[in-house]
Amino acid sequence: MKTITTLDELRRVTAAIRSKGSLALVPTMGALHEGHLTLVRAAREAAGHVAVSIFVNPRQFGANEDLDAYPRQLARDSDLLETEGVTLLWAPPPSEVYPEGYATNISVAKVSEGLCGADRPGHFDGVATVVCKLFNQVRPDMAFFGEKDWQQLAVIRRMARDLDLTRPHVDAIHGVPIVREADGLAMSSRNAYLSPDQRAVAAALPEAMRRAIARLGGGEAAGPVLAELSSELVETGFDSVDYAELRRGGDLAPVGVAEQDSRLFVAARIGRTRLIDNMPLG
Ligand code: PAF
Repeated sequence: MKTITTLDELRRVTAAIRSKGSLALVPTMGALHEGHLTLVRAAREAAGHVAVSIFVNPRQFGANEDLDAYPRQLARDSDLLETEGVTLLWAPPPSEVYPEGYATNISVAKVSEGLCGADRPGHFDGVATVVCKLFNQVRPDMAFFGEKDWQQLAVIRRMARDLDLTRPHVDAIHGVPIVREADGLAMSSRNAYLSPDQRAVAAALPEAMRRAIARLGGGEAAGPVLAELSSELVETGFDSVDYAELRRGGDLAPVGVAEQDSRLFVAARIGRTRLIDNMPLG
């Protein structure tokens, strides 16, 4: 595996790879866990070569979010990726992504609004901007993202269609199902912040969501079911619930009663850690 930190070298190496076969990109912010490795394995099955980017993108963190505390473990991550047969690791310094005078922002309306967009103003602009840049830098044939960040995936798909980044540029944007711990908690780099007591509380989230899904799937109105879900989470030990919503999976429009393609979306906080999860109704 080759680790690359300058755009000039990235362009040379990716051009050589593309002349021989297909290239998949797995964008990450590092602190890799089994969820990321699942994306890498899916990418390896689909393409001749896999590029993984590790870049903790400052533009997607709010002023009071955890940019400085975000775990950075490049040596460990690099060893893991080497074992997974990754061809190249793109690990640029911030100056290579946002050089002096950088002034462009990508903002995707509608799908960025509500859910995490309401609690994290500017977050999806930062995600769309960096992912567009990563697509232009690496120029992959396809890219892989985790479905745990379902809204992020919807924003990226919309941005790629709107800015003509899809075929023949990035042929396909693949969503890979959530990888869960044995007790059902969705894997996330932020789980590492949880104390053992908080970790035990966190496991209640997917359980409570499954119970709500059974009721919603039975035709109950979303309002009362979601209000009860939020109260239950707080009673179990969550400090607060940012949202518990039923929305259409494709365009993320809110729905009052389950429809085909509806998904349940929840974000809840324990101490300073914010956990998100989503599940389909079907
Ligand atoms: O999901 C992430 O890790 C990040 O939001 C991404 C897509 C790598 C952009 O920084």
